[in-house]
Amino acid sequence: MKKVKKAIIPAAGLGTRFLPATKAMPKEMLPILDKPTIQYIVEEAIESGIEDIIIVTGKGKRAIEDHFDSAYELEQTLISKEKFDLLKKVQEPSKLVDIHYIRQKEPKGLGHAVWCARNFIGNEPFAVLLGDDIVQAETPCLKQLINEYDRTHSSVIGVKRVPDNETNRYGIIDPIEQQGRSFQVKNFVEKPEIEKAPSNLAIIGRYVFTPDIFMFLDKQEVGAGGEIQLTDSIQNLNKIQRVFAYEFEGNRYDVGEKLGFIETTIEFALKNKDLKENLLKFLKSKIEEHEHF
Ligand code: G1P
Repeated sequence: MKKVKKAIIPAAGLGTRFLPATKAMPKEMLPILDKPTIQYIVEEAIESGIEDIIIVTGKGKRAIEDHFDSAYELEQTLISKEKFDLLKKVQEPSKLVDIHYIRQKEPKGLGHAVWCARNFIGNEPFAVLLGDDIVQAETPCLKQLINEYDRTHSSVIGVKRVPDNETNRYGIIDPIEQQGRSFQVKNFVEKPEIEKAPSNLAIIGRYVFTPDIFMFLDKQEVGAGGEIQLTDSIQNLNKIQRVFAYEFEGNRYDVGEKLGFIETTIEFALKNKDLKENLLKFLKSKIEEHEHF
């Protein structure tokens, strides 16, 4: 059986939830503390054993390529000023792994973005990681799914429970049978209306696929929101070969919307020994100030 060694990171989205910040800057470059969100995703892929990454970009996404490239002038300046700690931080992203790029020429949806990378993947199993969620877990989230792929030889979709009133923001599964953290699935539904959601188990942007998914992406018609939906092709694939859902372990941070982004920043800052004490003081004073109202 072929091992999962390649990953696609779709990063062509317009980032409308963060406008105007994302007017001239990719949303994937918004930082959590001192690292852009996409670097957390790339690091998770590498820690999960991925050797080749392709990022699907679009207009206005050049900063992502620059971030994972070397920065000669900046590096020389830091060397001449003997700022070696900073130099290490600047060089780190370019040394992580070989990253390839392809452009999605039109914003036709997530399914289409993944399809754009089909020639890079060829006839191999592969992973997809979306940048809207950072997951912190003892075993990296994607690694958990790859382990499940190695066990089942089937495509595996990462899921987590979400509040019942948020099911219309996600792909939702209709589970049939559960074995530990693994589910057999009857249906995968993209953004169902809240009253029609078959469960509250939501697709959280980590996937492992057999290359057969491309048979369906090749001819996938537009679905929810007028876009070519990855979830619809998963639903079709599940009709000819089993696709499992896996409720992964770990904390999931939704950095794709404002409140989640702020919460993640606070949580990561509280885990940073240089920031924790002063941030806690600040937060306590803010709570006291606001409790008066
Ligand atoms: C996409 C997928 C959806 C998934 C979500 C996770 O939606 O289409 O199935 O639940 O990512 O973040 P988007 O958030 O791009 O609208």
